[in-house]
Amino acid sequence: MLAGPKLQSLNELLQGASRDELIWISGYVAALTAAQPQAKKEAAVKEFVQDASFTMPVCTVVYGTETGNSKKIATDFSNKLKKQGVQVKLKSLDQYKANDLAKESCMIVVMSTQGDGDPPAGAKKFYDQIHQNEFALNHLKYGVLALGDSAYPLFCKAGEDVDIRLHQLGARRITNLKKCDTDFDGDASAWIDEFIAAALKPEAAPTMNGAVKVKAPAKPGKKIYDGTIATIINLNDRGSSKETYHIEIATEEPITYEPGDSIGIVAKNNKTAVNKIFELLELKGDEELYYKEQPYRSFELFINKLNIQFLPERIVQQYAKLVKKDIPSVKMDLADLLRIYPADQKLNPQQLVNILDPITPRLYSVSSSPSAHGENEVHVTVSRSMFDVGGQTRYGLCSDFLSCLEEGTSLQFYVNKNSSFRLPDSSSDMIMIGPGTGIAPFRAFLYERDAQGHQGRNWLFFGEQHFVSDFLYQTDLVSLLDTKVLTKLNVAFSRDQKEKVYVQHKMLQQAEELFHWIESGAHIYLCGCKDPMSYDVEKTLTNIISTHKNVSEESALEYLQLMEEEGRYHKDVY
Ligand SMILES: Cc1cc2nc3c(=O)[nH]c(=O)nc-3n(C[C@H](O)[C@H](O)[C@H](O)COP(=O)(O)OP(=O)(O)OC[C@H]3O[C@@H](n4cnc5c(N)ncnc54)[C@H](O)[C@@H]3O)c2cc1C
Ligand SMILES: Cc1cc2nc3c(=O)[nH]c(=O)nc-3n(C[C@H](O)[C@H](O)[C@H](O)COP(=O)(O)O)c2cc1C
Repeated sequence: MLAGPKLQSLNELLQGASRDELIWISGYVAALTAAQPQAKKEAAVKEFVQDASFTMPVCTVVYGTETGNSKKIATDFSNKLKKQGVQVKLKSLDQYKANDLAKESCMIVVMSTQGDGDPPAGAKKFYDQIHQNEFALNHLKYGVLALGDSAYPLFCKAGEDVDIRLHQLGARRITNLKKCDTDFDGDASAWIDEFIAAALKPEAAPTMNGAVKVKAPAKPGKKIYDGTIATIINLNDRGSSKETYHIEIATEEPITYEPGDSIGIVAKNNKTAVNKIFELLELKGDEELYYKEQPYRSFELFINKLNIQFLPERIVQQYAKLVKKDIPSVKMDLADLLRIYPADQKLNPQQLVNILDPITPRLYSVSSSPSAHGENEVHVTVSRSMFDVGGQTRYGLCSDFLSCLEEGTSLQFYVNKNSSFRLPDSSSDMIMIGPGTGIAPFRAFLYERDAQGHQGRNWLFFGEQHFVSDFLYQTDLVSLLDTKVLTKLNVAFSRDQKEKVYVQHKMLQQAEELFHWIESGAHIYLCGCKDPMSYDVEKTLTNIISTHKNVSEESALEYLQLMEEEGRYHKDVY
């Protein structure tokens, strides 16, 4: 269990200890173990199961989601509960008022974690309200299912926080918090079975920890694919201020994915950036350092594992503690931190490594279709993120890493499912709004519909800066128009004229027909930049519905929300 520096420190401590000290240490460790969360969790479950008077006639299922996974799971849970005769209310946390907790008797929270351990944007208000206010929730029984990605340092933190806070407010757990990784289906389904068993059959014989045992399916683990870069092309032409790469990744084994999914990639750090840090730390590159109890050569560790770019404030503050300096709470690159706030005495590199986070994955929407391109390749559309820091051009970590890859290079990835961004049935019409890299999943959708012979009509709105240099996938789209797979294409090139023209302006020009498509049952898909694009497009959609249906803006918004609830309005924005 213990390896590396931890084992070394323990041995050093024990070697010099007297018999009495050893007895004291063993008692101290035993007391610490008894106070660990597992013990608390068992008590929490017993506490509920002993309450045999509880029945579950109603249950509210709420979800906090960014990319739709929690919504999909919460919907599945609701359906399962309904089949058990439970009356279910399903709500997104962005529409849930924390004051309504007083009226609930039973609640399930499904919630993902975003950013650096944060709740999804739509769930932030609820999260803040329950943390900043006091509620008496002794009447409430609940369970939390947390979604996350174990590659992030604060794995499932938002769900974990909600679980702890509800318990602090007096609510009682029906089942323990479950933290799910990106392969969440099996865990989520076992958890809801456990919840239902515990909630509906309290008289059943309690097992060791008080819960009714439901056998969890064998856990396959996150599937990592070994790929090779087969093609990498810059889709922007000379004169463009952007670089957007079409990247085809080939694999030996078939990839299990669907259009609408994204892939997760962990980048490597840039050699120049690592060398800068090594100069400041006076490291040569071959020193042995431990990270998460594994030994590495220092250069390999800094290139492949450690996040050295734009460190979160909490890491900057841990560094401040390490070097005993006052450092403002800002995000900063490690090289800048070491240069601007150097340690007074030579910094122990192992101590520095101990506080650093791993490099986290970035997601990229898949732009290929398994039916059209085969199961042994996946395509992505990557915009190289460029920004200015103190007059110098800097690059985003992963998009820069991917943009610089050469054909033939190996690359690992995993599939991140997005079950709520899927093609409709074959006869339904689709309206797709995808400026910039938002085009990616729509390329996948169009090729998939073509290969599957879907009959539904397809209308695409695409936008970029300039027609000549930035018309991403122009050849593909024109040929899809020629073959009538693409029924309509409207493009907006924002900087080709004096006034800026965006996709929402093109939508307004087509408002009457667009509304007709919507009223006739078309699905709406929106993908790409969240702020401001997705907000502007949504405002325009509301405006079009309000005008052509002759209803208020509020009613139009409700109409759109209903479409979302019915699975006819899908968003994948970032
Ligand atoms: C579901 C989903 C699908 C996505 N699909 C796509 C897609 O199809 N195509 C695509 O291109 N992207 C897509 N993205 C976005 C993608 O995942 C990455 O967020 C994006 O490529 C930027 O990552 P990066 O590592 O290059 O930049 P990061 O290193 O993460 O930097 C992000 C931003 O942080 C700031 N920053 C970073 N370092 C510094 C610094 N030192 N000083 C000041 N500011 C700094 C900059 O504003 C920078 O743009 C998707 C995201 C999601 C969630
Ligand atoms: C930008 C970004 C940041 C993330 N941050 C975290 C994190 O800090 N901790 C974690 O456990 N998961 C993190 N995740 C993973 C998501 O929680 C995971 O993909 C989850 O399945 C998303 O569920 P949702 O679609 O319901 O939002 C992050 C994902 C993205 C795209």
